Amino acid sequence: MKYLHFHAMPGGRLSGRLRVPGDKSISHRSIMLGSLAEGETRVSGFLEGEDSLATLAAFRAMGVEIEGPDAGRVRIQGAGLHGLAAPAAALYLGNSGTSMRLMSGLLAGQAFDTTLTGDASLSGRPMQRVVRPLSDMGARIDATAAGTAPLRIHGGAPLTGIDYDMPVASAQVKSSVLLAGLYAAGTTCVREPAPTRDHTERMLEGMGYPVRREPGRVCLEGGHVLHGIDIDIPADISSAAFFLVGASIAPGSDLVLEHVGMNPTRTGVIDILQRMGASIEVNNARDVGGEPVADLHVRSAPLHGIDIPPELVPLAIDEFPVIFVAAACAQGRTVLTGAEELRVKESDRIQVMADGLNALGINALATADGMQIEGGTLGGGRVDSHGDHRIAMAFSMAALRAQAAVEIRDCANVNTSFPDFVGQARQAGVDVGTAG
Ligand code: S3P
Repeated sequence: MKYLHFHAMPGGRLSGRLRVPGDKSISHRSIMLGSLAEGETRVSGFLEGEDSLATLAAFRAMGVEIEGPDAGRVRIQGAGLHGLAAPAAALYLGNSGTSMRLMSGLLAGQAFDTTLTGDASLSGRPMQRVVRPLSDMGARIDATAAGTAPLRIHGGAPLTGIDYDMPVASAQVKSSVLLAGLYAAGTTCVREPAPTRDHTERMLEGMGYPVRREPGRVCLEGGHVLHGIDIDIPADISSAAFFLVGASIAPGSDLVLEHVGMNPTRTGVIDILQRMGASIEVNNARDVGGEPVADLHVRSAPLHGIDIPPELVPLAIDEFPVIFVAAACAQGRTVLTGAEELRVKESDRIQVMADGLNALGINALATADGMQIEGGTLGGGRVDSHGDHRIAMAFSMAALRAQAAVEIRDCANVNTSFPDFVGQARQAGVDVGTAG
């Protein structure tokens, strides 16, 4: 399983209607906050991918009664803010940065010790960005000398609220500090340099927890109570993004993506693709349990290169692998700057994507904080995803415009965010299969 590869045949067009799996960010938060709430939380549309399942398993290991997932349905019997129990062993979080960073904050407020571990990719990712502010609040967390996992979180440390000026635009850091703030004396505030996804704030509010939100800043006080609710998780726009690009670049495509989460802190990919000339209609806009949702109708259209406005970067942070594929198929040059965060995702997404595009004959130049891509003709060939789910899926879409087959190595981690990607891609019209 670990050495799963994809083989994508050239050409094809996308059509029909698809509902991609539930939002990964919201799925994580539904387990975390549902576990800390009083009463039952009933979730539908839960992402049954390895990342969100790692969060679910971790809370079960801390004594929370969780039924499911069963066809996206999960029932959580909330243990209350102080009802978690010490796990018997280290909590293994696989590939999931969201689990590790958000849980660090939440676990810093517990009475017991925990150890958080992950796979090779997660064990190389920067954790100082959460350890530093949490330590300022009084948490005691040991990391490796390199500032990476395993993280040893010592329980019983009294926390005090801080006013944190976040140096990177990171929803994971913001959420980690806010979750520690639930356990802190006084007020905890986080100021962000640019808007980042606000699912934590929305879900806290949905569960009746008072949150003060101002432009660029969010504050809460410790000691209030969360109440269990029903959560209907929209389809993940980050998974829909592969199909938005696939249908845009494959001539003759006409595809509807249903029930897609349209939180304005997540829709940068739509803005960027529309600026490049994509035809994406937003239909049926509605609100589902505090999160906006819509159906997206995408038809193929000629794309042109653009300078991507840096302020859109945090709003499309997970979609750049596939946006780079769109740029490779566009007329002219696309330039991305201000995106150095891409170097510390599940892989170094700047280098890995530049290498892959180069291997397929595209002139793509990696820069310190982004990429310059000249649109051109994609050949076939072999690319390596470096175990990064979004890179594997992005190159599957590239095959739609390639001259020959594209072989994509090391794709098993597609299961972290989109377990049935191959099935849904095939159903829509991508000729992709797996090879052991
Ligand atoms: C996430 C925030 C983003 C994103 C990640 C999920 C979240 O990370 O890349 O996939 O659920 O809060 P950063 O906050 O580090 O940018």
